[in-house]
Amino acid sequence: MNINNEKAYKITVLSGDGIGPEITEEAERILRAVSTKHFTDMDFDYALIGGEAIDATGEPLPAETIAKCKAADSILLGAVGGPKWDNLAGEMRPEAGLLAIRKALGLYANLRPAVIFPALKSASPLKAEIIGDNLDVMIVRELTGGIYFGKHGTMTENGIEYTFDTEMYCVNEVERIARTAFELAQKRGKKLCSVDKANVLESSRMWRKTIEAVSEEYKDVELTYMYVDNCAMQLVRNPAQFDVIVTSNMFGDILSDEASMISGSIGMLASASLGETSLGLYEPIHGSAPDIAGQNIANPLAAILSAAMMCRYSLELPVFADEIEAAVRAALEIAATKDIYLEGAGKRLVSCSEMGDIVERLIIESK
Ligand code: IPM
Ligand code: MG
Repeated sequence: MNINNEKAYKITVLSGDGIGPEITEEAERILRAVSTKHFTDMDFDYALIGGEAIDATGEPLPAETIAKCKAADSILLGAVGGPKWDNLAGEMRPEAGLLAIRKALGLYANLRPAVIFPALKSASPLKAEIIGDNLDVMIVRELTGGIYFGKHGTMTENGIEYTFDTEMYCVNEVERIARTAFELAQKRGKKLCSVDKANVLESSRMWRKTIEAVSEEYKDVELTYMYVDNCAMQLVRNPAQFDVIVTSNMFGDILSDEASMISGSIGMLASASLGETSLGLYEPIHGSAPDIAGQNIANPLAAILSAAMMCRYSLELPVFADEIEAAVRAALEIAATKDIYLEGAGKRLVSCSEMGDIVERLIIESK
């Protein structure tokens, strides 16, 4: 194998809040194991984000964190948020730190793959015949525009106070996410479904027109459109009809949580946030799960699979990604964390760190 082991890869870890530290610890351990196996150096550095950053510095995204992220080859993130910070004003909430780091690094493309692992078919709430054998849907979520970043505020009209958030996109933002999605579709099943609400929203009509224009450059990809409400329904009616879905920030946020359940648990879904350079941010799509934080029962596999995506998309170490993913598949045959455990399925119920142990051992032992 031709791996450049002269270089030490620099990874900044933002473990964040709730279960964030537990799961990123396991993902970091897996990166250390796979890199040691291949005589490659990975240096880890740590920085604050979200609630832990608010507690330590008074802000959800300290300047030092942005600097450490910019200096890295890649970033691993856990999760942010929790009830402790729920009453803070919008800009001061932990979630604002996450939105701001995505924006500061220009990470406009969020890849959220929903795949079904054979061992987890029975953990999915959908019937086996609906899931099929090779469910593999890639949701491409626009990540730095739309309503999460549009104008918001309050105004008074006729003595009544209104609060508003606005869905805003410019053509350029839609074009670049369209290109990401078309290029991914070309490497996969050559099918792209663009999801919008063009029967109601002006911004969706512009979205659709722009996707249509970009599609001229990708004639080999079969393009379809779907309204978001229909898509939410189709994802549970017949998820196998999808290859790549491209959609706006908010619709992608919602649909990817829905898609994650098809694969058995939201604790399984990884994500990659990418921009114009190879610097990417990798995080599970689940949140900080404060109700189970600190108990060592969270599922670390979404974080571990995010680390695999990092090897694939940022570090150009696809062999590392393949080995991590194979080890996760094998681990699922013998063990399950609480969220994916099924009585009588013959798997061992394990903790977060035990799952990390198993995946690590499988990587070390594999040829
Ligand atoms: C996600 C999360 C975040 C988002 C929150 C925590 C800001 O739900 O990554 O899906 O909405 O992007
Ligand atoms: Mg979300």
